[in-house]
Amino acid sequence: MTSKPQIPSLPEPVPQLDLSAQYAAMGAEIRAAVERVLASQQFVLGHEGAALEKQIAQLCGVAHGVGVASGTDALILALRACGVQPGDEVLLPPFTFVATGSAVSALGAKPVFADIRPDTYNIDPSEFERRVTPRTRAIVVVHLYGLAADMDPIMAAAKSRHLPVIEDNAQAIGASYKGRPTGSLGDAACLSFYPTKNLGAYGDAGMVVTNSTELAARIRTLRNHGQTVKYRSSEPGWNSRLDEIQAAILRVKLRHLSNWQRARQSHAAEYHRLFSQIPGVMPPIALDGFEHVYHQYTIRIEQRDALQKFLSERKIGSAVYYPYPLHLQQLYASLGYHAGDFPHAERAAQEVLSLPMYPELRKDQIARVVETIVEFLKC
Ligand SMILES: Cc1ncc(COP(=O)(O)O)c(C=O)c1O
Repeated sequence: MTSKPQIPSLPEPVPQLDLSAQYAAMGAEIRAAVERVLASQQFVLGHEGAALEKQIAQLCGVAHGVGVASGTDALILALRACGVQPGDEVLLPPFTFVATGSAVSALGAKPVFADIRPDTYNIDPSEFERRVTPRTRAIVVVHLYGLAADMDPIMAAAKSRHLPVIEDNAQAIGASYKGRPTGSLGDAACLSFYPTKNLGAYGDAGMVVTNSTELAARIRTLRNHGQTVKYRSSEPGWNSRLDEIQAAILRVKLRHLSNWQRARQSHAAEYHRLFSQIPGVMPPIALDGFEHVYHQYTIRIEQRDALQKFLSERKIGSAVYYPYPLHLQQLYASLGYHAGDFPHAERAAQEVLSLPMYPELRKDQIARVVETIVEFLKC
């Protein structure tokens, strides 16, 4: 009898993100929460949304949360509530998801970009004075990848000119800066609960959090057709409300967020440990006083595209957030920016690579990712 030829076993794929592991662990809790909403037959602006607003505001260390339909809407409504009008200028970094800029454009305002720091990928506070003009009406600061921007110098500069600061906290829920949570650092902060975020819904959802009673009230009005009282509108608004099913799902997931955060931080520590011996790869910076929540674990490497291909051929997922800075997008061609205007953002767009990162990731998977990168560097 001839023995069967041995088929070499293929290594297990390592996805960049695996949401199915999370659902497998908590599907029953989620289904019970959805069932609760179905039984209530209240789908918009009900108990679940109100409870979530309180819980998220508390997590962010502020007085108010206003649920909206997405992180993008949170930005649009927060900017409008801060008084941004067509023709105003809004300062923001060019290295971010396009929504940060398109929210400004949606109000007919003009994005004015300020370059990032090459080590944190967040807005460089020293750029502020160069870019601010008498037409500047607000500043949007992005806490990219889960790391807070350096807020103290930004807030000081903004205060001296009476400009509101909005945190784009889509990627950094639970992070902190000098002991204060992101979301409490500016005048208002915008959260996205897009499914892939650290706290993700099962569809689109978002929230604005703020300490300002006035801003919160204005956003509540704007999200509901400008109605101050039912069927009485004081200004044009939107239909942008966080629905009860998403709110109920998010409340279940919120119970797990701090454990997930610790898991992400422990995976990051393991990546850091392994990368500390490897020249040619720049891991995310760990700054004193900044608690990073690793929405992404993003390395920097000159041969980024070749590495991504090498990893993909070995079934290791990775992603580029973001390959094109906003000032070079077709969307903003009319603003007249050119390649070379924001060198740190442009270089980051060519060199960053986000590696597998999610709470359920295992140590042996992290080891395989790093070993494969070492193999690539030897080629
Ligand atoms: C930095 C940043 N800003 C804004 C958004 C927009 O959020 P949403 O997709 O919920 O509209 C996202 C997420 O997609 C983001 O990552």
